[in-house]
Amino acid sequence: MITATETKLPRLLMELPGPQAKKVIEDDAKFMSPSLTREYPLVAKRGHGAIVEDIDGNAFLDFAAGIAVCSTGHCHPKVVEAIQKQAAELIHISGTDFYHHHLPQLAERLVATMPGKEHKKVFFGNSGTEAVEGAIKLARYATKRDKLIAFYGCFHGRTLGSLSLTASKNTQRKHFGALLGGVEHIPFPYAYRCAHGHTPETCGTEILELLEQQMFKRLFAPEEIAAIIIEPIQGEGGFVPAPAFFLQELQRICNRHGIMLIVDEVQSGMGRTGKWWSYEHAGIEPDILCTAKGIASGMPLSAFIAKESVMRWKPGSHGSTYGGNPVCIASAMATMDLIEGGYMENARKMGDYIFGRINDWPSRFKVVGDVRGKGLMIGIEIVRDQKTKEKAADLRDAVINKAFRKGLLLLSSGENSIRMSPPLLIDQEQADFAIRTLEDCFREAETKI
Ligand SMILES: Cc1ncc(COP(=O)(O)O)c(C=O)c1O
Repeated sequence: MITATETKLPRLLMELPGPQAKKVIEDDAKFMSPSLTREYPLVAKRGHGAIVEDIDGNAFLDFAAGIAVCSTGHCHPKVVEAIQKQAAELIHISGTDFYHHHLPQLAERLVATMPGKEHKKVFFGNSGTEAVEGAIKLARYATKRDKLIAFYGCFHGRTLGSLSLTASKNTQRKHFGALLGGVEHIPFPYAYRCAHGHTPETCGTEILELLEQQMFKRLFAPEEIAAIIIEPIQGEGGFVPAPAFFLQELQRICNRHGIMLIVDEVQSGMGRTGKWWSYEHAGIEPDILCTAKGIASGMPLSAFIAKESVMRWKPGSHGSTYGGNPVCIASAMATMDLIEGGYMENARKMGDYIFGRINDWPSRFKVVGDVRGKGLMIGIEIVRDQKTKEKAADLRDAVINKAFRKGLLLLSSGENSIRMSPPLLIDQEQADFAIRTLEDCFREAETKI
């Protein structure tokens, strides 16, 4: 039997799903919450590097990385060693009540990734949504204001506070009743669909005008607004980057009115775009940053990092039983070593390589409307017609399913986009396989329009 450690490329042994996978899927349907959205029948058993092996022994090339979580690939030996060593020494102590040397060590390393005019401090949690919840609370605490502004298309999590900011798909909010009051959304600068025909560099001018000329004058006085929260590259919303000028202007507006600028780097951070944080490409300095996913290679850890002048709350104002768990922190330290030690540079290099090969997809494939992103955060928008830009969610789903059956794991994003978010360690051979596979799938999709 093929094992994940022996191969760098997919090896399919049977028609999918295989017999053991079918059995798990049946059990899952009986016992698991139906709220989970499975795009295709992958039943994972083990992983190594960018390869995931399923329960029947089929090996897949993973360009999803557990929703951009497995930044250092699956079960990197250094990450596994760090986890095992820490698990044998101390599994839990609760950083809310006691000290542990790992807490300030990791915090110091995270702070060092955000050089700027001001020193920063860190709070650890367990998931992306918790980082966002904490950031909301901190922004309200620091400003003594309660209003929040977020963007259409954004995804910040599914607990009730972060869900109030999330405006990605209405199924995520439907039937959950009243959410946080004082939250308003404005459009995100989505260059491919820019209502004003701007280029990717200038899209968003009118949104800033809307914010200052309409929202500030008619809805929320700026001195009532605690924070504006933005994903510098929307993740769940379709891998849509905000133009650099837009982020810079947003920062200026926030600074002018004492509004906290929160950047949600849960999906776009930890080296994925070739820099620690995607906001760095715009040269801004946010007040609060949220991170999770890629931070600990799959162990549940998140953090929000804030300017020292902002993180000045009193003991007891915020806490978490598990946040900053020693095993997760050990995993994060090993993850940061690897990212710093070459994976971030590889993300930049492989991202450039992939974009160099796929930038012309819209001119080569009728179903590809747009290719966008940075580093290894690559979005591909699927359309039925390039002129009308009619969204083709069915074709997108067909491409993703076909790719799975050819051994490539991908995820959808937004209404009609595909995301490529592989582990940061992929090499050229693996990138070439993913590109070739997607090209085959596009050709097949084109026969359906
Ligand atoms: C940008 C962003 N923020 C927050 C979250 C929520 O993270 P979690 O699912 O760990 O709660 C996600 C998850 O996809 C995300 O992409």
